[in-house]
Amino acid sequence: MRFSVNGEPVDVSVDPDTPLLWVIRDELKLTGTKFGCGIAQCGACTVHVDGMAQRSCVTPVSAVEGRAIVTIEAVSGKEADAVRAAWIAHDTPQCGYCQSGQIMSAVALLRENPSPDDKAIDEGMAGNICRCATYPRIRAAIHEAAKKLEG
Ligand code: FES
Ligand code: FES
Repeated sequence: MRFSVNGEPVDVSVDPDTPLLWVIRDELKLTGTKFGCGIAQCGACTVHVDGMAQRSCVTPVSAVEGRAIVTIEAVSGKEADAVRAAWIAHDTPQCGYCQSGQIMSAVALLRENPSPDDKAIDEGMAGNICRCATYPRIRAAIHEAAKKLEG
């Protein structure tokens, strides 16, 4: 199966049903994308597929043939820069486990809606669980990133 990851062409020979997450972590050794639940309930495994946030734990690799995957290691652009800076400014992570998924979802949200209100943030980030309950800092960081993007 052929697709691209972080701008590089990838050609893998695995069972077509293999979750994209395992290809990313085990075959490509990109371990920034995390395994949490394996059933699309936590968001730790979120990557971008053709720019859209997607749960890689429930995405069979066959579904991404010919498509462009971006992981936390290489997410870029003005939204990603604003999110990273705001995450640092707000000291957002606690244990950190969920945070790559949170950032990937936040970047996708801001690309779709550059100035989300609290409701839009809560809706956009609803699938990303944080066991450390960093939600208030995540929300504040997204607001700050949105303000920076406006400016
Ligand atoms: S590991 Fe994919 S949503 Fe939890
Ligand atoms: S920072 Fe620990 S699970 Fe989110």
